[in-house]
Amino acid sequence: MTTQRFLTGITTSGTPHLGNYVGSIRPAVRASLTPGVQSFYFLADYHALIKIDQPDRIQRSTLEIAASWLAAGLDPERVVFYRQSDVPEIPELTWFLTCVLGKGVLNRAHAYKAAVDKNTANGTDPDADVSAGLFMYPVLMGADILMFNAHKVPVGRDQVQHIEMARDMAHSFNHRYGEHFVAPEAVIEDNVATLPGLDGRKMSKSYDNTIPMFASSAQLKKLIGSIVTDSKAPGEPKQTEGSALFQMYQAFASESETQALRQAYADGISWADAKQTVFERIDQELAPMRETYSTLMNNPAKIEVILLAGAAKARALATPFINQLRHAVGLRKLDAMSTVTSTVSKATKPSFKQYRETDGKFYFKLLNGQHQLLLQSHGFDSPKDAGQMIKHMSAASQDALVHLSTFLQLAPDIGIADVWQNLQLFNSD
Ligand code: TRP
Repeated sequence: MTTQRFLTGITTSGTPHLGNYVGSIRPAVRASLTPGVQSFYFLADYHALIKIDQPDRIQRSTLEIAASWLAAGLDPERVVFYRQSDVPEIPELTWFLTCVLGKGVLNRAHAYKAAVDKNTANGTDPDADVSAGLFMYPVLMGADILMFNAHKVPVGRDQVQHIEMARDMAHSFNHRYGEHFVAPEAVIEDNVATLPGLDGRKMSKSYDNTIPMFASSAQLKKLIGSIVTDSKAPGEPKQTEGSALFQMYQAFASESETQALRQAYADGISWADAKQTVFERIDQELAPMRETYSTLMNNPAKIEVILLAGAAKARALATPFINQLRHAVGLRKLDAMSTVTSTVSKATKPSFKQYRETDGKFYFKLLNGQHQLLLQSHGFDSPKDAGQMIKHMSAASQDALVHLSTFLQLAPDIGIADVWQNLQLFNSD
């Protein structure tokens, strides 16, 4: 079995908060320790350009996110941890995928549609303030994933559509140019806790209710102190149900610790004491990381070295792969014309092989004299239809063959000219 490759990107557009830690950083670091799994984590800084036009904020966020992941225990020796913009193969692949994806697919992307709907509702131009970057963003994300032929992509529900689109791009490209890409699958992390924010709603930058992951101990205490509670007095039993404080505790505490706090709620613990308990538990987990974080933040050059080493690992895969893809699409050196014809010996003729697939349709393939696959047909409803096509092909001029090729799928690195030259061998004796 091949090693399963997991890949996830983190847009460098903010400062990590506790919700990011519980929902994404902590589970990802744990998952990266699973044997038999190869993990790719990258700082999606090209993606950040879609959201942010303040260069210093992007740089700052890149540093903070890298330092947070490393402080949380991500081992850059064990995983491939890199910055997207250090891998120029990714934007190149973005273009290849742009050329095989239907524009209509992008029209239906949620983020783009939401922007258009909002403009329409306001009576403004549907595309007002919509950058082409926002529109194209799913393609860049597809390139992130397909560049490393990731099998699994852990994401939130809001990103599932993008993974579907990446699958679409993989299929379209493979269909045109041969099997190069694995179709990725989304892994939706449903059993990961969502953390409530200070106001009890989901912790999110857009609600302005976050606790920074690396707030100082004093700040953390103050912020936890400001979490909304009801007005029950000390000694009165309290509800765990719907208590943001309790939920937050649960995301950090063990089963038995949680049980103990549940009991304390029932016994009428004061909100002040409950907050102290929650603060201490969270601080206990974060304090050691906080130290690593501040060491790293004070030493950006060290992070730079780590990221460049990660980029070197990433490019060791990406560079040969993009070369393969360049060749497949026809971006080739002219002094190395397709070698297939030269391997055709005059004495050996190509052969058509007809067969039936499980879809009930009839197919054929064309092999050269060395039994190398030149092309495959699409499915035909009857063997007679497939036979007709073979007949047309064998008799076709090169131009006619180009027209017929819409019914055919050429093998990687095979051009229609290769096929035509092989077919000429039928007629030569
Ligand atoms: N778009 C993702 C987000 O906003 C981040 C991202 C970029 C990503 N490229 C990716 C996630 C590739 C998974 C795989 O959360």
